[in-house]
Amino acid sequence: MKSLLAFVVLIIYVNQSYGYLGFDLPASQVFTTAQFNCFFNQSFYLILPQIYSANGEFEQIGLQNVVNARQSGLWADTIINPCRNVNNTCKNGLITGVEQALEIIKYVNSSSVPITYMNLQIQGHRNWPKDRTANQQFIMDFTNTIWVSKDHSD
Ligand SMILES: *[C@@H]1O[C@H](CO)[C@@H](O)[C@H](O)[C@H]1NC(C)=O
Ligand SMILES: *[C@@H]1O[C@H](CO)[C@@H](O)[C@H](O)[C@H]1NC(C)=O
Ligand SMILES: *[C@@H]1O[C@H](CO)[C@@H](O)[C@H](O)[C@H]1NC(C)=O
Repeated sequence: MKSLLAFVVLIIYVNQSYGYLGFDLPASQVFTTAQFNCFFNQSFYLILPQIYSANGEFEQIGLQNVVNARQSGLWADTIINPCRNVNNTCKNGLITGVEQALEIIKYVNSSSVPITYMNLQIQGHRNWPKDRTANQQFIMDFTNTIWVSKDHSD
């Protein structure tokens, strides 16, 4: 547990908007249900695994962490980093914010992983050009597509 804690201390933050002690979990390591249960016993209630990377692909490590965390008693919401495919370097080959959002919706809709909330994160400058207006448009297209799909589902 000590080494685990040392690792987590680096990435830990108290998520004040939730009002619980939680942390952001990069998709670098699968934690077991027992390890998550240990966090739970240390008064953590929420983790935020990254499930979609800025490279334009789903993170299998993050998805497994959602499953394991939920089995351990922890709540898991997720983090998605949309890929801004300005030079066609995203792994899924999709270009627009709408396409990226639809890809994520389609996956979440058909996945057995219990995904509830998705938090949008813009990671570094990877694949993001300096064109602020186009970047804003991309984010608006992305969030509006997710929003509309949410309204039409139950
Ligand atoms: C967490 O606490 C429960 C209840 O006290 C205990 O049964 C369980 O073994 C603990 N889990 C870990 C990983 O320490
Ligand atoms: C979600 O899945 C259902 C059943 O598989 C399908 O009818 C529906 O069109 C899907 N919705 C989206 C947004 O992909
Ligand atoms: C896209 O490619 C152009 C031309 O090679 C380059 O100048 C630019 O920095 C690249 N943009 C990103 C975000 O990688």
